[in-house]
Amino acid sequence: MFGRGKRGDRRANTGPAASPRPDRPGPHHLPPHPGEPAAFPYAAAPAAGAHHGHPQGGPDYSAHPGHPTYADHPAHAVHPVQPTRPAPAAGGAPAVRLEGVVKTYGSGAETVHALRGVDLQIPKGTFTAVMGPSGSGKSTFLHCAAGLDKPGSGRVLLGDDDLTAMNENQLTRLRRTRLGFVFQAFNLLPSLTVEKNVLLPLRLAGERADRRRAAEVLAMVGLHEHANRRPAQLSGGQQQRVAIARALVTRPDVLFADEPTGALDTTTAGDVLSLLRRSVDESGATIVMVTHDPVAASYADRVVFLAAGHLAGHLHAPTPEAVAARMVALSQPARAQGRAA
Ligand SMILES: Nc1ncnc2c1ncn2[C@@H]1O[C@H](COP(=O)(O)OP(=O)(O)O)[C@@H](O)[C@H]1O
Ligand SMILES: [Mg+2]
Repeated sequence: MFGRGKRGDRRANTGPAASPRPDRPGPHHLPPHPGEPAAFPYAAAPAAGAHHGHPQGGPDYSAHPGHPTYADHPAHAVHPVQPTRPAPAAGGAPAVRLEGVVKTYGSGAETVHALRGVDLQIPKGTFTAVMGPSGSGKSTFLHCAAGLDKPGSGRVLLGDDDLTAMNENQLTRLRRTRLGFVFQAFNLLPSLTVEKNVLLPLRLAGERADRRRAAEVLAMVGLHEHANRRPAQLSGGQQQRVAIARALVTRPDVLFADEPTGALDTTTAGDVLSLLRRSVDESGATIVMVTHDPVAASYADRVVFLAAGHLAGHLHAPTPEAVAARMVALSQPARAQGRAA
């Protein structure tokens, strides 16, 4: 039902940007949305060089041996386990490849080496979590991988297409048609209904406002009955599910999520994570999610650890306990350096 459609057919529909209609704000007539982070990913100009920050600070896992799990919630009592999942399609290019990606901010004494040469492949149809201590480069990694920011050197490939060789217009087009984004702040446009929020990426890409597709993704996130509501009439968890529906509406090659459950309570977070998991298992989506929460990371097929801008290891079929243990090790600088070497 939510299988990937015929991308060729859909792309063939693609024309020039939709002309604005009075009842439908066009790309250049987006309503103001206070509190919208500069990095609204479907906008024309990305927040290149914007400071991602890490407002929450990293949790001290060593102080929380009994880290809460979502298993309390009936829906999560049985955690998804690896062997039941279909194996990702063998062969073909990975969804995303990073090759020697370096990102440096500032200069002289102010220089920050956010990424120090990251090589990573994200296979299609997989769910990858990215973890690391606060300031380890997670958001920078995500922004570079998603074409929201340009690496200082190295290459980022989406399929066979080199993002680092693209100009701003090409990147904007790519973000609207082939990538999906979910952030901690849901970034829904408050003046638009749920349905119109979900249709936004299609409209920005100049494609037909496919209401059937909107209904389909809203059904997938369990919100088809709320299509005509406005975001303020929904709970935080529901808003994030709308944001996920919006991110999936174009059937993106990759969905990038930066702390998607950071603003949610544990039960609601579990719903959102189960939804992400299902979109990989049932729709073949490819997801890359930054999180600082070992339980959230355990929904992924693989956790990739960052420490001080380096890749510091992988964990397949992660459990919350294994992830938390690895985070404790990474938070101890001497050992983290040893692992990164
Ligand atoms: N625009 C920027 N200017 C200067 N330093 C930055 C900028 N963005 C991120 N940084 C720095 O780069 C490092 C990695 O940041 P970030 O990727 O946000 O880490 P994380 O998401 O893991 O907390 C940090 O030291 C951060 O302060
Ligand atoms: Mg961050």
